[in-house]
Amino acid sequence: MVNVKTLAWATLAVSASAFLIPSIQALGDDLADAFDSIAESVHLGDQVATFPTPNPNEKPVPGNAPIVQCEALNAQILDLQEVIIDPSPPVKGQNLTFSATGFLSEDIEDGAYVDVDVRFGFIRLIHQTYDLCEQVENVDLECPIKKGKQVITKLVEIPAEVPPGKYVVNARAFDKNDVLITCLTATVEFPATSG
Ligand SMILES: *[C@@H]1O[C@H](CO)[C@@H](O)[C@H](O)[C@H]1NC(C)=O
Repeated sequence: MVNVKTLAWATLAVSASAFLIPSIQALGDDLADAFDSIAESVHLGDQVATFPTPNPNEKPVPGNAPIVQCEALNAQILDLQEVIIDPSPPVKGQNLTFSATGFLSEDIEDGAYVDVDVRFGFIRLIHQTYDLCEQVENVDLECPIKKGKQVITKLVEIPAEVPPGKYVVNARAFDKNDVLITCLTATVEFPATSG
């Protein structure tokens, strides 16, 4: 067992979990509600209008994962040095192995939070703020997360029932003093027929 702690994984887990980690119950319920509301919605134009403007300051995260660092010109507590996923791209109904290396310039303590924004095609599915320290417990992390180099690996099962389509997940994490920890955007497209 790898027993390491990293905010890289925490943040990625929270962002990726919107479609990758059914064990994070809050996100799962939010997704279900969101899909329900899509079914009812006839005002998609309104939802499109609420999208945040794409940030031009994007920098690919090294590795093979479809993740970019956003607001890369702003100082960030987390320096995410590499993310490796297998398989790449993720396949629904299959296990995904995740490995992340990063460097925290500060301890992360209680009070940290993450704003998560999930788009499905042109539809905004989720816009929620989560307690980061609560969420990291789902991935075997615990606050305070100490500063320094962090490496972690994790296996997640991607449910076969994930609706096909293109998902864009934006996660912006902040510490308890509203200092930016990281801004990450992940893009995954699940084809209509998997495998
Ligand atoms: C995924 O991993 C779990 C735990 O190791 C295992 O029980 C399960 O069979 C795996 N699923 C697939 C589709 O490989």
